[in-house]
Amino acid sequence: METTPIAAAPRASRTSAWVTAGIAAAVFALGLTFALKTTDAPTHAFAIFKLIHVVVAVFWVGGGILLTVLALRAERAKDPEEMAHIARQAVFAGERLFAPAGLVVLAMGITMVINSHEIGFGTTWVDIGLTGYALSFATGIGVLAPMSRRIVSLLADKGAAAPETQAAIARILLVARVDIAVLLVVVADMFTKPFS
Ligand code: HEM
Repeated sequence: METTPIAAAPRASRTSAWVTAGIAAAVFALGLTFALKTTDAPTHAFAIFKLIHVVVAVFWVGGGILLTVLALRAERAKDPEEMAHIARQAVFAGERLFAPAGLVVLAMGITMVINSHEIGFGTTWVDIGLTGYALSFATGIGVLAPMSRRIVSLLADKGAAAPETQAAIARILLVARVDIAVLLVVVADMFTKPFS
């Protein structure tokens, strides 16, 4: 019957929501168990802060890398509609997902430093992390946000294929690439803890 797919859709979406919630609960329970049985952190609280710090950093940096790869692919294919689509996704992800994720990463990082007797502000790798975050924050507020507002209005006024729109999109995606490179340097810094 014609009605079957329409009737089945809400059921499928409810099942998907339950399965997703189940997976999230299982990951949360396992993560918490690992943190409470840590052999690599001074306290359980530190292990939990570090877990949140790293998981959210993976989401933030990984999401940025994926957008960069998709943008490079669209650029190479010279596909203006796809470029505009990726720019719209990047504006949404930057404002609604990556900016709050960055704040969580920063908050957990600072909490760990305050909680630790061995790590302090003034430790070189911590200062490199703070500088990287400050650079990324300043780029987001001072460059990416105004650029993305301009792209939103160019898309509405002139359309995706207009040379002006495409040039603005190419510029914002280039700045976003530099921002991701800074974050990758911070990840390398956090993993290797150089100079101190
Ligand atoms: C800018 C983005 C940042 C990213 C992507 C990031 C990423 C990471 C990663 C991947 C680790 C795990 C490294 C490991 O222990 O092997 C880590 C650990 C850590 N991060 Fe960050 N981090 C960032 C910013 C910060 C900031 C600003 C601070 C301090 C204010 C900070 C403080 C710490 C601390 C204390 C640890 C635990 C180190 C340990 O257990 O030995 N992070 N970070």
